[in-house]
Amino acid sequence: MSYYEIQGGRPLSGSLAIHGAKNSVLPILAACLLAPGQSVIHNCPDLSDVSATLDILRLLGCRADRDGSTVTVDATALCRCNIPEHLMREMRSSVIFLGALLSRMGETELSYPGGCELGPRPIDLHLSALRLLGAEIWEEQGALCCRRGRNLRGRELCLSIPSVGATENAMLAACGCPGLTTVVGAAQEPEIVDLQNFLRAMGAKIDGAGTPTLAIEGGAPLHPAEYWVMGDRVAAATYLCGAAAAGGEVSITGVAPETLTAVLSCLEEAGCTLRTGPDQIVLASSAPLQGIPPVRTAPYPGFPTDAQAILMAALAGGEGATLFVENIFDSRYRHVDELRRMGADIQVAGRAAMVSGVGRLHGAAVRSTDLRGGAALVVAALGAEGATQVSELRHIRRGYQDLDRNFRALGADIREVP
Ligand code: UD1
Repeated sequence: MSYYEIQGGRPLSGSLAIHGAKNSVLPILAACLLAPGQSVIHNCPDLSDVSATLDILRLLGCRADRDGSTVTVDATALCRCNIPEHLMREMRSSVIFLGALLSRMGETELSYPGGCELGPRPIDLHLSALRLLGAEIWEEQGALCCRRGRNLRGRELCLSIPSVGATENAMLAACGCPGLTTVVGAAQEPEIVDLQNFLRAMGAKIDGAGTPTLAIEGGAPLHPAEYWVMGDRVAAATYLCGAAAAGGEVSITGVAPETLTAVLSCLEEAGCTLRTGPDQIVLASSAPLQGIPPVRTAPYPGFPTDAQAILMAALAGGEGATLFVENIFDSRYRHVDELRRMGADIQVAGRAAMVSGVGRLHGAAVRSTDLRGGAALVVAALGAEGATQVSELRHIRRGYQDLDRNFRALGADIREVP
C-alpha cells in the first residue's frame, strides 16, 4: 500500500488554485437526476467520493463522463431507483440520492448508510423531513424503501439540528413536491447556497439558502443546467494550515475568504499574517504558532468540524495551549493518537481536547484514520523535524485531489511511495 513520505521543516511559498468543493459537488451531481437531459458540471474535483457518485449515477441508468474537471451527466435514461449495498457503504453521503430519486422517480430503495469513522451518523432527520412531505418510508430486509405517498405536497419542515445532509435531502425532495415547502432550522453552509444556485439554474424556485429558512415552490418540471462548483473551503484551510505549520508565504485562490472567516481568525490569533481579496487568501507565517482561545466546532458560520483536526495538527507543533471542543461529531479525535506518535501533547476528555504546543513535532510513521484526520497528519509532518510516513491514503483521496503534488508545488518535500 502506498504512503506519503514527508521531510518536514521546509517553508512553503507560491500560489495554488483550489479544486471544487467535495461537499458541494456530491449533492449537485445527485441533483442532476431531477431533470432528463444533460447537465454540465465544471470544477468537479477528481476524488474517490466523486467517482463513487458517478458509479451510482451510471448504475441508475445515467450517462456520466469526465473530461478534465468537467463532468457531464445525462439523466435521460434514468431507469433504476435502487442503490446496492456495496455502493452505499463506499460513501455515506450517498444518502443524498434519497431525496433526488424520490423527487424524480417517486420511489427509491437504498441500504442503510450506517456508521462511519466519525461515529454513528443517524439519518433520522432526513427521514422525518421526507415523511413530513408525504413520503412513505419503511425498512425491508435491511433496505430502506421510500415512495411517494398519496399526500405528497409541500409544507413546513422544522429541523431540530441544522443538518447539512438533511437540509440537502429536503431541498431535493421538495423540488418534486407540488406546493410550498419551508425548511425551518436549515443548515446555512456555503455548500447549501451552491446547491440552491444549481437548482435555480435548473429552473427551481428556491430561496433562502445561507439563512435558517428555505422556501421551495416545487412541482414544476426542471431542466438540465451548466454549473461551476464553488471552491473547496476545507481544502483551502488544509493548505493554509500546512503553510502556518511549516512557515513561509502562500497564496490560495479559488475560494471566497468569507466562507473561511472562523478558520482565518484562528490562524491570525495564532500569529499568522493574512491578506484577503475577493477570491484569494494570502497567509504568511514565520514564528512558531501560539496557543489561541478555545476553538469550539459549530454549524456554519461557526468553526467547521472539518477543519478541527487540521488546525489542531498545526497548533500541536507550536507554542502555548489551545482547548478544542468538538460539538458536531462524537468520535472525531482519532487523529490524536497518531499526532502523539509525532510528539504531540494532547489530552482528550469527552468532547474536549487540550493541546499543549511542544515547540516542534518530530517525524514518525503514522496512519490516516479518516479523511480530515489524514490531512491533519500531513499538515503536522510539514512542520515537524525529520521524516514522516503517512499511510492509509485512501481516506485522504476521498476529499483531496493531488494533495502531495499541490504541497510539492508550494515547496514541500513530499512524495508518494508506491
Ligand atoms: C456534512 C459534511 C461533512 C461535515 C458535516 C458537518 C457532506 C458530504 N458532508 O455531513 O463533511 O463534517 O456536514 O458540517 O456535506 N444528525 C442527526 N440526525 C440526522 C442527521 C444528522 O442527529 O438525521 C447529527 C449528526 O450526527 C451530527 C450533526 O447532526 O452530529 C451534523 O451532521 P450533518 O450536518 O448532517 O452532517 P453531514 O451532512 O453528514
